[in-house]
Amino acid sequence: MADNKGSYYITTPIYYVNDKPHLGHTYTTVACDVLARFKRLDGFDVMFLTGTDEHGQKVKQAAEKKGVTPQEHTDFYAKNFRDLAEVMNISNDDFIRTTEDRHKKAAQALWTTLVEKGHIYKDSYSGWYAVRDEAYYNEDELTKNDAGQYVAPSGAECEWMEEESYFFKLSEWAEPLLKFYEDHPDFIMPQSRRNEVLSFVKGGLRDLSISRTAFDWGVKVPGDEKHVMYVWIDALTNYLTAIGYPDTDAESFEKFWPADVHMVGKDIIRFHAVYWPAFLLAADITPPKRVFAHGWWTIEGEKMSKSVGNVISPYDLIEKYGVDASRYFMLREVPFGNDGDFSDEQAVTRINAELANGLGNLAQRTLSMIHKNCDGKFPEQGTLNADDLALLKTTREELIGHVRRELDVQKFHEALRYFKMAVDAANGYIDEQAPWKLKKEDPERMHSVLYTLAESIRCLALIIQPFVPDASTKLLDQLKVAADKRDFTALDASNAITGGVEIDKPQGVFPRIERKEEEGQAA
Ligand code: MSP
Repeated sequence: MADNKGSYYITTPIYYVNDKPHLGHTYTTVACDVLARFKRLDGFDVMFLTGTDEHGQKVKQAAEKKGVTPQEHTDFYAKNFRDLAEVMNISNDDFIRTTEDRHKKAAQALWTTLVEKGHIYKDSYSGWYAVRDEAYYNEDELTKNDAGQYVAPSGAECEWMEEESYFFKLSEWAEPLLKFYEDHPDFIMPQSRRNEVLSFVKGGLRDLSISRTAFDWGVKVPGDEKHVMYVWIDALTNYLTAIGYPDTDAESFEKFWPADVHMVGKDIIRFHAVYWPAFLLAADITPPKRVFAHGWWTIEGEKMSKSVGNVISPYDLIEKYGVDASRYFMLREVPFGNDGDFSDEQAVTRINAELANGLGNLAQRTLSMIHKNCDGKFPEQGTLNADDLALLKTTREELIGHVRRELDVQKFHEALRYFKMAVDAANGYIDEQAPWKLKKEDPERMHSVLYTLAESIRCLALIIQPFVPDASTKLLDQLKVAADKRDFTALDASNAITGGVEIDKPQGVFPRIERKEEEGQAA
């Protein structure tokens, strides 16, 4: 097995339980899953956390509308997210729910620490609040809709609120935060988001109302139970809860905090890159190493929304393309960090070109030739020439370095671009060497070519595991790679395929997706 290179802690946002999971949620979770799987194979001790955000006025209102208790409501929706994680082949190590006791305890402990250190005070609050966003807005940020109601930049309706509230002295944190961003240039990524946050903080920060009395579905404020905590201070604490907070001496806390990456959508960057590090610095807890904000998916040019009726369910994607191809497409299609547009047409083109015709065809052609022309056994390597060695250098030595480097900065699309170039190199090699012609002329040379290809496919299958875990497992099984030789140390030549080992009749691992029109024509 791989040597231990240290720990790696990655988190998804915890999802609101007011809706079923859709493409947007799945995207964040799959991106984190790829990083978690990659780091495990690369020898890190990984903690990968996801879960659900279950408190707040919105949840309370949704439950009332349905005539169920908030707990019944949250149990139902939390299960949806948990089930989806399983179906999408997500390898999370924990699933946190903010209604769990362990979490309430952690949120209350963080609150108490902030009170003890003098960062929280009680006052009365009046201002504009959007229940849908669970966020407060300044009047100058609002516009009026046709009905004359104030709406937030997100489109959410705002209501005037006046109540007694606890406040966090956020106004004192603008300078320390700016210093923190300067000292940690990679804390907010990508760069465009960093600029956005910097200019927001430079504009000055106001104290933040962090409790509510208008409803009771939340974590109670210690010592003043008519208040519940503002849902964001409650929710953000989940990242600490799961590794043992408030026990900061716990082995898991020492090992995994500060988190390596909080992956979020661009809409919630302010909460993660401004409020969260301010709470943590105030509590004398080191902030996470990175907050990465990805972009948003639109659907054939339009914002995904229930009212438009274009919400993409991950289950539809799975039905059309399968789990692996859906995962691959999401991360390959759009530069991570940018917004992207989803269309069935593009998905089918990409999947067919790069999975079915690319890696799939390469493996199928090679294994079929070995099965047919080499007595169903891996050939011996024989004498390798410069072309063979060049391909092996790409697939066995160089590719992993490129993928590692790109994934360390969350450039999934770049990592996959390098992967595609290596597959193209192997497909180019097979066409040039034309092993099918060598059978009669020079069987020894044919063996070396097929050996080079099989060994290259072994390396490609090892490297692509985090993206397409099922297909790569099937491929590695066909290549007779032992279960304990599937991490990245196995890329070493000493683990190369062994001549003489028998293989089974090859099975394709990436089916071609039929286009809608093609289906129509065939019918
Ligand atoms: N509960 C908060 C997060 C608390 S974390 C301490 C929340 N939940 S959410 O369910 O609304 O959204 C979770 C994630 O899904 C966000 O990162 C959001 O950006 C992402 N997406 C929701 N719709 C999306 C798209 N259309 N496209 C891409 N991702 C989007 O916010």
